[in-house]
Amino acid sequence: MNTILQKINQINQIDYLVALKEATNILKNNGLVAFPTETVYGLGANALKNECVEKIYIAKGRPSDNPLIVHISDMNDIYKLAKNVPNLAINIMKKFWPGALTIILPKNEIIPEKTSGGLNTVAIRMPNNKIALDLISNCGFPIAAPSANISGKPSPTSANHVFKDLNGKIDMILDGGCCDFGIESTVIEVFENEIIILRPGSITKEMLENVCENVFIDKALLNNDLISIPKSPGMKYKHYAPKANITIFKGNTDIVAKKILELLKNDKNESIAIIFFEMLKNYPEFNNFKFINIGSIKNNTEIL
Ligand code: TXA
Ligand code: MG
Repeated sequence: MNTILQKINQINQIDYLVALKEATNILKNNGLVAFPTETVYGLGANALKNECVEKIYIAKGRPSDNPLIVHISDMNDIYKLAKNVPNLAINIMKKFWPGALTIILPKNEIIPEKTSGGLNTVAIRMPNNKIALDLISNCGFPIAAPSANISGKPSPTSANHVFKDLNGKIDMILDGGCCDFGIESTVIEVFENEIIILRPGSITKEMLENVCENVFIDKALLNNDLISIPKSPGMKYKHYAPKANITIFKGNTDIVAKKILELLKNDKNESIAIIFFEMLKNYPEFNNFKFINIGSIKNNTEIL
């Protein structure tokens, strides 16, 4: 298969509308299109047809029991896709959509088995990205989209990452530049008066606590629980599997900075230090080594 890599230079210009039309036609003809969202790139197909969604699983090499997120462009679409929507879920959508939050709700019959991985629930999200929203509304159906990587690899934050993983396996990639966040959406289950975080992501527990007092993390995700099975099937598979070895340092910034410098001095593997802006400011010796400065420790969004 020949994969079209289409760069979007300027939104709303004629070439944008042409690219959007081509992508829409591919999806309407049951094909696969990768597109940007504010979190990571998604690999899209018509969420309402088993035969389309099946192609996603094949292209990614994804286990078929791992359900997909259904992306919408209009909040009212939830009533077609889900039933028994609690009031709390509506409040949460109004506050965080469009945005990096996926909500699990009991599914309607319209959601085919392959989209929901055989579960009786469906994951729904309205992304905060103009290209994604235009694509969904042009199609006129919701788009199922997991992250556009080969299963088990890190989620792609640029069209080139997608191309490296999926060239020849999908019809088209819409290149809308780098994603804003680089980390996937938070996946939550919402009840009348309680929220359970099934996959931590860009929207934090603290942010959700502004809307609901009772926010819990799925206990299977906590370090001391090795027995429970995660409620979000994707969390039982290997995630974030870069090829390099990684050492994580935890604790007081000064002590951590000194420890990393000590290791770099004795390092024979040409390691790359990932540091905060504050470390570099206080320890200019980092300039003698290879390092990536990921921004201020005070600004989570910048770090992501
Ligand atoms: O930011 C994101 O969420 C990106 C962009 C493209 O929207 N998508 C993404 O999709 O990360 P994916 O397929 O890589 O991860 C979806 C997660 C998986 O852990 C899956 O198990 C979980 O959502 N999930 C989907 N449907 C579910 C359901 N009905 N119940 C529980 N978990 C569900
Ligand atoms: Mg993924």
